[in-house]
This record gives sequence, structure tokens and C-alpha cells, in this order.
Amino acid sequence: MSKPKIFVTRLIPEKGLEILREFCDVNVWLHELPPTRDELLQHVRGIDGLLCLLTEKIDGEVMDEAGSQLKVISNLAVGFDNIDVPAATARRIPIGNTPDVLTDATADFAFALMMAVARRINEGERYIRDGKWKTWGPMTLLGVDIRGATLGLVGFGRIGKAVAQRALGFDMRVIYYDPKEKKAYPDLKATQVDFETLLEEADFISLHTPLTPDTRHLIDAEALSKMKPNAVLLNTARGPIVDLDALYEALKEHRIFGAGLDVTEPEPLPLDSPLLTLENVVIAPHIASASRTSRDQMSWMAAQNLIAGLKGERLPNCVNPQVYSQK
Ligand code: DGY
Repeated sequence: MSKPKIFVTRLIPEKGLEILREFCDVNVWLHELPPTRDELLQHVRGIDGLLCLLTEKIDGEVMDEAGSQLKVISNLAVGFDNIDVPAATARRIPIGNTPDVLTDATADFAFALMMAVARRINEGERYIRDGKWKTWGPMTLLGVDIRGATLGLVGFGRIGKAVAQRALGFDMRVIYYDPKEKKAYPDLKATQVDFETLLEEADFISLHTPLTPDTRHLIDAEALSKMKPNAVLLNTARGPIVDLDALYEALKEHRIFGAGLDVTEPEPLPLDSPLLTLENVVIAPHIASASRTSRDQMSWMAAQNLIAGLKGERLPNCVNPQVYSQK
């Protein structure tokens, strides 16, 4: 019997590919850049399963171009705003994602950005490379303290909680805003507040909410105007949650202390972005989950979701379980 055909939109860690090769006829896109829209449409034709990344927009057109035999879409990411979920659900195609396995790596990275911005590490390195380091100076590159500061988490899901856990070790006061969270978490010593209070009281604001119509530009000029002058904004969630034009103005005028961004809008951030002219922002190329262990596990989990879907079994991590209750 012939194996099911799948398209994998980039080279992913071997941990997942080895399982896929056993069970499927695998076509991997081996280029450094993602397939263009035309290339994607061409490569999905006739496939039974699609393993894609956040760099691909997967909408009804892609699903229809693949054909009615398409059984599953597996996203190598916890976020799935690149996929038109209602379009997949309408076609009874389950979508898989990769939660949990990147929680710690992402929380670690949020902390790495927090420290880099607060203690001006990248700026310090540029200072050395630019030949400006002449002597030890009592006023050189003064930063803000982390210990004892108030950390405001926007979104208190898995990653938000893992960041709160780390904050315990720094004796931080943790407040969070999450309209979906109803339970109290006394172990994490975190207090639920409204959005306005979080903006006004937090020294560090870290975003851990999915991108939805409600969270697009949640951090806009108005939100930024409510933050403290020493506030640091951290985004390891999705770029469009922050209005970057408004952030640029706030940073340029030193209305907040700094920002650490792992995600931007757009990605990649164009080289002529005015943000890149500022010293008080640290920008990383969307690498919060990029630890070897985490990416191996994401690859494995994406493969498990894909294979379950091909077998007609329930995906271990399905973002649209309604497909299973549809008649
Ligand atoms: C995700 O998983 O959603 C990240 O942005 C990439 O790891």
C-alpha cells in the first residue's frame, strides 16, 4: 500500500522527521526561506497531511488547493494565528499545535530579555565594540533593578505562569491580567489585576497572550502612556500585539525605560526600521523557543499530531476539537 503524502514546509529537527519518514512519503522544503505563496500552493496539491510553520499563511485556498483528501494540518508552534481555523473546521480538518514543550525555553527567554534591557547588556557590548570604553565609570550605563520590582504579566497561561515561577527567585511582586483566568495561584504569589492597574503599577510588563482580534495592538500609544517612566516592555508572544510606531515614539522620548522584543510586526523587521536606531531596545529574531531540546520536542510533537491525523485518530494536541463532534 502506498504511504500517505505529506509536505513539510522547512527542514525541521530529525526527531520528528525520522518518525514521519517511517509512516509517510515525505516532501521537505529544503530552502532557507519559506515557500512563496505560489510554491506553497503548488506543493500542497494532492497531499494527505501538511506540516507547516508560523511563516506560512494557511487559509481556505491552501486547503482547497491541497484537495479533499487533506486529513490534517500540523503547525510546528504553539501559536496558530497563521492558520484560518474556521476554514479548517468547516472542512473538518483537525489542526495540531505544540504546547508545553516550549514553555520553559520561552519563559527563560523572556527573563533573558528582561535582564538584557534592565542592565543594558547589548548597549554595553556596542559601547565596547565602538571603542567608547575608556575607564570604569560610576555613572556608566546605569540600569534598573529586577529584584523586588513589580512584574506585570499580560496572559497567565502556561508561559505566563512559568515566568511568574522564575520571578519568585528574584523576589518580584507579580501581578497579571488575564480575563480567561478564574483560579487563584497562591504558590506563584501572583495577584490578578485589571489591565489599567497592570499598566500603571508594573516595572516590567511581559506579554504572553495569543494574537487575536482583541489583542492586536493591545499595547498602543494609550497603553504606553499609562506605563511608568522606568517601565520595560517585553514581547515574546506575537509582534502585532504591540503597535511598534507607538513604541518607537515612547522609547525615543524616554517615556518608558526600554523594551525587549523577540517578535515584531513585520517579521523580519526591516533594516530601515527606526527602532533599530534606538539604544533602549533589544530585538531578537523570534528565537524564544529556539533551544535544542525544545525544538526537538516541537518537531516530535508536530510529527505525532500529523500521524494521528493521517490515521484518523484524535490529535494529541488539537486546536479545533469541534471537528470531532461534527456530524
Ligand atoms: C510558537 O510556538 O508559537 C512560537 O512563536 C515559535 O516557537
